[in-house]
Amino acid sequence: ELPKKVKIVEVGPRDGLQNEKEAVPAAVKVALVDRLSRAGFLNIEAASFVSPKWVPQMATSTEVMASITRREGTIYSALTPNMQGFEAALASRADEVVIFGSASEAFSQKNINCSIAESIARFESVARAAKDNGLRLRGSISCAFGCPYQGEVPLDAVADVVARMRDLGCDEIDIADTIGVSTARKTQAVMQVAAQEFHVDRISGHFHDTYGQALANIYASLEVGVSIFHSSVAGLGGCPYAKGATGNVATEDVLFLMNGLGIETGIDIDQVVDAGQFISQHLGRKATSRAGNALVAK
Ligand code: HMG
Ligand code: MG
Repeated sequence: ELPKKVKIVEVGPRDGLQNEKEAVPAAVKVALVDRLSRAGFLNIEAASFVSPKWVPQMATSTEVMASITRREGTIYSALTPNMQGFEAALASRADEVVIFGSASEAFSQKNINCSIAESIARFESVARAAKDNGLRLRGSISCAFGCPYQGEVPLDAVADVVARMRDLGCDEIDIADTIGVSTARKTQAVMQVAAQEFHVDRISGHFHDTYGQALANIYASLEVGVSIFHSSVAGLGGCPYAKGATGNVATEDVLFLMNGLGIETGIDIDQVVDAGQFISQHLGRKATSRAGNALVAK
């Protein structure tokens, strides 16, 4: 039996925009986040406090966090790879900080410039500071289904990082398909391994749609009890450290699926479609959400 209710975490303002070449003005990001807040999301990834040399597009994060209109009950999350990032997130009143590691050694080096073991050691102080300050803590695990640098990622490696993130005190753990290579059965195998280490209702699926498999992977995850999914309005995005990676699964497509399945999300798809049109117009290209574009054409 599928879950009756899911949480959709909108990651467009962060994962969606972090790879844009042209700087997106903070005011546009704020307008996007505010539209998404009004659409009803309970969790929006709005910022990333990383090195601006590594990811220039996220350099506006403090400004964005200072200017958004926060909706009561919505969690505004920020990526924090180290204490410098944590301090900035705390000062900007993030509700949740995200430590982000990888199940692939090769990707860990490329993305955050250290080994998996070093990253976990670095996250310890961030995790402790989050707890001390009463912030939610989320752990994100990249390349849980495959890696652009090392190819296969063993199930044991995923289980190991999930256990480490759990031991750091994460409230939620994201199992991420950074390069969108997973397919339904593989997805179930990885999610089941993760669920042996951590409560399935606090595991989330973060699927990029590079190979067009994201919705199938979400459905497969629902079948094994996962009920939190990440998505990006208009299908924006791609990771700067995963060559050829395209955007996250489009939020409009996920909502269309959930609505069809009768699974509650609390989100108004029409307002999300409008938000998708807004940001796509700003970027000067057509949204890649199939459901979004179909609804606009209607
Ligand atoms: P490093 O060079 O090893 O760090 O980078 P460092 O501690 O030696 O610092 C070097 C410089 O960076 C110093 O500045 C620091 O101040 C600065 P300098 O003295 O040279 O002028 N610095 C910072 N500046 C601002 N905020 C900070 C910060 N930390 C250091 N927090 C580091 C290590 C982790 C910082 C770097 O590798 C980095 O920023 N990486 C970011 C990578 C990234 O953001 N990737 C995309 C997000 S992850 C993702 O998209 C995947 C996900 O969606 C899931 C999935 O799909 O897989 C989550
Ligand atoms: Mg991602």
